[in-house]
Amino acid sequence: MESTILISKTENSKFLKISVNIWFTVVVFGQFLFALYILGLYGVSGIAGDFERWNEASAHGYVEKDILGNIVFGIHIALAAIITIGGPLQLIKKVRSRFPKFHRINGRIYIGTAFLISIAGLYLTWIRDAVGGLPGGIFITINGVLIIVCAFYTAKFAIERNLKVHRKWAICLFLAMSGVWFFRVFLMLWLTIHQAPVGFDMNTFQGPALNMLYTFSYILPVILATFYFKAKQSQSGKPRLIISIFILILTCCIAVGTFSATMGMWLPRL
Ligand code: HEM
Repeated sequence: MESTILISKTENSKFLKISVNIWFTVVVFGQFLFALYILGLYGVSGIAGDFERWNEASAHGYVEKDILGNIVFGIHIALAAIITIGGPLQLIKKVRSRFPKFHRINGRIYIGTAFLISIAGLYLTWIRDAVGGLPGGIFITINGVLIIVCAFYTAKFAIERNLKVHRKWAICLFLAMSGVWFFRVFLMLWLTIHQAPVGFDMNTFQGPALNMLYTFSYILPVILATFYFKAKQSQSGKPRLIISIFILILTCCIAVGTFSATMGMWLPRL
């Protein structure tokens, strides 16, 4: 009896590991496509001096005579490309163990970028006016604050060499930093399911469906991470099994949303 429980516990641990690896692979691939879009649209047009193209996806990307705002937007976008490529590398175990120096340098860049991108994002939200009005502004601000808090504790525990806790905060930071990517992916999943902008107004970009998607993208991933940490340490195999199945279902949703975002949002703008 005891040995059966032990086997199922180990099997559930393996299942959890496999689920997380599949999830991570899909997320990394999806974020790589997002990074290609950022570089392809904003990078290429920025280098060519064709700043008008910044407004293809963003209502206030390039605003004539707003030099400071345009610089902040440009910095925000450049940092977005850096973190979207550099972030996942920090969480790959083989990269950490084989290239510890790279992990430390990239980690410093990642944490510094987390602070800067959030501050630039807050400027764009509150000084420059962003798409989504007040609700959109409040939700993205929560995401920005969450990023800053997670970045602070990730750095703090790394400096104190408390690597176990550092890793947990680093995972939360990655999830918070992925919030804007999750939002685009879940929005496209929502539109694919409904084949119409159900639950929100396309013109104002406001509505209950968007508030739900903001919560799901900006806040819930960090909360879910705490359930994952608990399940991983649990004596019983059941929480691990439940969270593994949940992660696999979520991965299917993310894969569909990423495909829709790539085909419907990112590729057409390149
Ligand atoms: C941390 C990861 C982040 C990434 C990768 C990222 C990426 C981007 C990208 C690519 C755009 C251009 C729009 C598009 O082409 O889709 C954008 C715009 C913007 N971002 Fe971020 N961002 C991040 C975080 C934040 C945060 C934390 C905030 C706010 C606190 C923020 C606020 C904004 C605003 C206000 C815009 C302009 C939207 C508009 O035109 O109304 N971003 N971001």
